[in-house]
Amino acid sequence: MENWRCTIFLTMLVTILLVPTFVFSLSPAITDPIVLSSTSSGIINQDSKLETYIVFLEKPEGMESAKPEDLDSWYQSFLPAVTTSSSNQQRLIYSYHNVVTGFAAKLTKQEAKAMEMKEGFMSARPQNVLNVQTTHTPDFLGLQRNLGFWNHSNYGKGVIVGVLDTGVTPNHPSFSDEGMPPPPSKWKGKCEFNGTLCNNKLIGARNFYSAGKPPTDGHGHGTHTASTAAGSPVQGASFFDQYNGTAVGIASSAHLAIYQVCSEFGSCSESDILAGMDAAVEDGCDVLSLSLGGPSRPFYDDSIAIGAFGAIQKGIFVSCAAGNSGPSNESLSNEAPWILTVGASTVDRSIRATVMLGNNAQYDGESFYQPKNFSSSLLPLFYAGSNGNESGAFCDPGSLKDVDVREKVVLCERGGFSGLIDKGQVVKDAGGAAMIVMNDEVSGNVTTASLHVLPASHVSYADGLSIKAYINSTASPMATILFKGTVFGVPYAPQVATFSSRGPSLACPGILKPDILGPGVLILAAWLHPVDNRANTTPGFNVISGTSMATPHLSGIAALLKSSHPEWSPAAIKSAIMTTANLTNLGGMPITDQFFDPVDVFGIGSGHVNPTKADDPGLVYDIQPDDYIPYLCGLGYNNTEVGIIVQRPVTCSNSSSIPEAQLNYPSFSIKLGSIPQTYTRTVTNVGPSKSSYIAEINSPQGVDVKVTPSGIQFGGGDLKATYSVTFTRTANVNVPFAQGYLNWVSADHVVRSPIAVIF
Ligand SMILES: *[C@@H]1O[C@H](CO)[C@@H](O)[C@H](O)[C@H]1NC(C)=O
Ligand SMILES: *[C@@H]1O[C@H](CO)[C@@H](O)[C@H](O)[C@H]1NC(C)=O
Ligand SMILES: *[C@@H]1O[C@H](CO)[C@@H](O)[C@H](O)[C@H]1NC(C)=O
Ligand SMILES: *[C@@H]1O[C@H](CO)[C@@H](O)[C@H](O)[C@H]1NC(C)=O
Ligand SMILES: *[C@@H]1O[C@H](CO)[C@@H](O)[C@H](O)[C@H]1NC(C)=O
Ligand SMILES: *[C@@H]1O[C@H](CO)[C@@H](O)[C@H](O)[C@H]1NC(C)=O
Ligand SMILES: *[C@@H]1O[C@H](CO)[C@@H](O)[C@H](O)[C@H]1NC(C)=O
Ligand SMILES: *[C@@H]1O[C@H](CO)[C@@H](O)[C@H](O)[C@H]1NC(C)=O
Ligand SMILES: *[C@@H]1O[C@H](CO)[C@@H](O)[C@H](O)[C@H]1NC(C)=O
Ligand SMILES: *[C@@H]1O[C@H](CO)[C@@H](O)[C@H](O)[C@H]1NC(C)=O
Ligand SMILES: *[C@@H]1O[C@H](CO)[C@@H](O)[C@H](O)[C@H]1NC(C)=O
Repeated sequence: MENWRCTIFLTMLVTILLVPTFVFSLSPAITDPIVLSSTSSGIINQDSKLETYIVFLEKPEGMESAKPEDLDSWYQSFLPAVTTSSSNQQRLIYSYHNVVTGFAAKLTKQEAKAMEMKEGFMSARPQNVLNVQTTHTPDFLGLQRNLGFWNHSNYGKGVIVGVLDTGVTPNHPSFSDEGMPPPPSKWKGKCEFNGTLCNNKLIGARNFYSAGKPPTDGHGHGTHTASTAAGSPVQGASFFDQYNGTAVGIASSAHLAIYQVCSEFGSCSESDILAGMDAAVEDGCDVLSLSLGGPSRPFYDDSIAIGAFGAIQKGIFVSCAAGNSGPSNESLSNEAPWILTVGASTVDRSIRATVMLGNNAQYDGESFYQPKNFSSSLLPLFYAGSNGNESGAFCDPGSLKDVDVREKVVLCERGGFSGLIDKGQVVKDAGGAAMIVMNDEVSGNVTTASLHVLPASHVSYADGLSIKAYINSTASPMATILFKGTVFGVPYAPQVATFSSRGPSLACPGILKPDILGPGVLILAAWLHPVDNRANTTPGFNVISGTSMATPHLSGIAALLKSSHPEWSPAAIKSAIMTTANLTNLGGMPITDQFFDPVDVFGIGSGHVNPTKADDPGLVYDIQPDDYIPYLCGLGYNNTEVGIIVQRPVTCSNSSSIPEAQLNYPSFSIKLGSIPQTYTRTVTNVGPSKSSYIAEINSPQGVDVKVTPSGIQFGGGDLKATYSVTFTRTANVNVPFAQGYLNWVSADHVVRSPIAVIF
């Protein structure tokens, strides 16, 4: 690790958006966000300490179309005068040319302050440290080989997906280029791997975390996300004999360009992220996928938001993780309206471990470890909290010392100070034959398939109570576990993952976020190497969870849409994805959270992505990059702050500002008092040229929603139509917010916008 990074870590820590699951027991590198030592933080002499600053400039007149070399020498002129130019070279870390005008450099506080006097200076601040937060998912998403949208989009052929992450494992078969054509001629990127490791699938790979070294993934996260977005098919993939099948990325014929901006520990610094985005734009990427982020910040202070704005101005789609800080509300990352903010949901498979009791009652639980040699004959069942010691029920280390559990099935309770897998180890060490681990009341119905160390099943709280009641009811309770392997078609999927960050957005309360949900729980994709020797899979695959895993699914879908609709803008693609999303689960019921409780629009956003419908949305809500300027002025940002985001001089005036809810966004989020509010929206017809739509309104509780006109006809050549919508409070309701929907319905399309009203 170079020295300068140490200064970065003082203030911030970037982590990949990955949720701790059972893999943590195997791979300590990806446990909870890495806590870096902050002891060095400014102990002595703050003012003369060198830190990495992000400096934004405004090109003076005459330099608007300056060449990169000219910009570089101009940037140099901002650096402190020193005796040799070589020490200035070391001060300058990155020159940015595409998404922003400015640079990253090592500066002291005084030096940064001194730059403020120079012409063209906009802002300078120490960089932030952020935290870095499949076999079956194409099928779950309705994508089928040789049929429908997957076939029609050519699996994303010709599209370039840029992945900013921990690097990549280049020799993995998920990055084989068999059958791949060369990259399109616009491609200008580089391969920083030695020799022939790049190919027609992996067309570029660069390292911004550790310049001069190959961008080899030392973590696994970048390999996983890249293969999820656009990996080549690999037959015979599996993980501990489960999830077997062909592992394939969503845009399996798209090209991949890798930008390593994070360390092998999953920490990513802002200057590197911005450099990666700058290069990806220059190189010719079409879609950027960022499974990383930090906490909410104003957009002028958020390098991903600023870099993404530069990208969308060039027509590049940007998909980012919503964060893993759910289910608390206001917990989102990457909220800017020009970014697709992706939340995570479960997939319709379960790795079943059914508990069977002596009374023949059966309870379906889950376990990733599915031993083939475990007998289905009943064994004595022992409750770890019996013998009058209730704190023993948690099966914490030491708790089973004084009881004989040999050759017994032990019922443990969630809680105490040990994790589910650790409890299994305690039972195993005490000679137990198997473990049933039941939830506590708070975790209710949320069970998970863990990689247990002995035959085990994780059951819900309700099922656990039934098992306890059975134990009470008989002198010699008996039980066994029936291992049923991977079961598909779970009717209550998708569910919003508990960890998926929830709105409302702090940075932009007038925009409903997250935008969309995609598969992000227990996702199988490529990994560095076999996870451990119990997994007899070569090459490596791993099953992990996080909004990090959901994001590349959406990046892949955006690549498919780019391929099938090359003329659509990033906002149009986003609108198509959002207005066609599913609100119901496979069983036809409203999507719930993992507790089976109803979930609101701040958790579900527009719903769960439905790629086939997104290919044919009927209408889209388009936004041109310049439309964001009045929006940003309306957010209350001053001219400098707006200028930092849009990277040119802006003069906000009242006449050029709009309220947030007036942005032509495919959803509504408003704060409503007693005064009615009216907004307009413009829809663009991308469906049949002759079509007519009727507005159907599902009003939020206590709110009247009036749409004018209530019908729209297309056919006269005009592709756009504008309508207005007025929100009026009709009653005082005793809830903090209410939600509803505005649907434009034609013979063959429903274009749905969710509405959130905060009182
Ligand atoms: C979305 O809904 C459609 C029905 O409209 C269903 O066929 C499809 O399986 C759903 N997809 C997901 C991922 O829930
Ligand atoms: C698949 O796509 C090809 C080329 O785009 C097309 O010719 C073929 O008809 C499609 N197949 C189906 C079943 O839609
Ligand atoms: C690159 O590969 C060549 C040939 O395989 C080898 O001779 C050379 O040492 C390698 N360079 C690096 C930096 O690994
Ligand atoms: C996965 O394994 C099961 C059991 O061994 C087998 O029945 C199934 O066909 C396999 N699925 C695939 C897609 O190979
Ligand atoms: C957010 O959470 C707080 C505290 O749990 C709650 O009072 C508030 O109503 C929530 N807001 C929304 C919009 O869900
Ligand atoms: C089942 O197989 C595992 C792993 O191969 C072994 O450790 C265990 O002892 C076996 N159990 C029985 C009951 O044979
Ligand atoms: C009860 O269980 C706890 C937790 O394992 C243990 O520390 C304690 O010694 C046990 N108490 C008795 C009386 O067995
Ligand atoms: C979830 O748990 C509750 C109570 O613990 C139970 O009544 C309910 O049936 C469960 N729901 C599902 C879908 O399993
Ligand atoms: C089982 O019996 C114990 C002691 O009689 C009692 O405290 C407990 O509530 C019972 N549990 C259930 C689930 O019935
Ligand atoms: C804009 O706000 C920033 C703080 O974000 C402040 O430093 C700057 O002076 C303001 N600029 C103007 C033109 O008001
Ligand atoms: C803009 O509006 C604000 C508040 O509504 C007002 O104070 C200010 O004078 C207005 N500025 C101009 C230039 O009209």
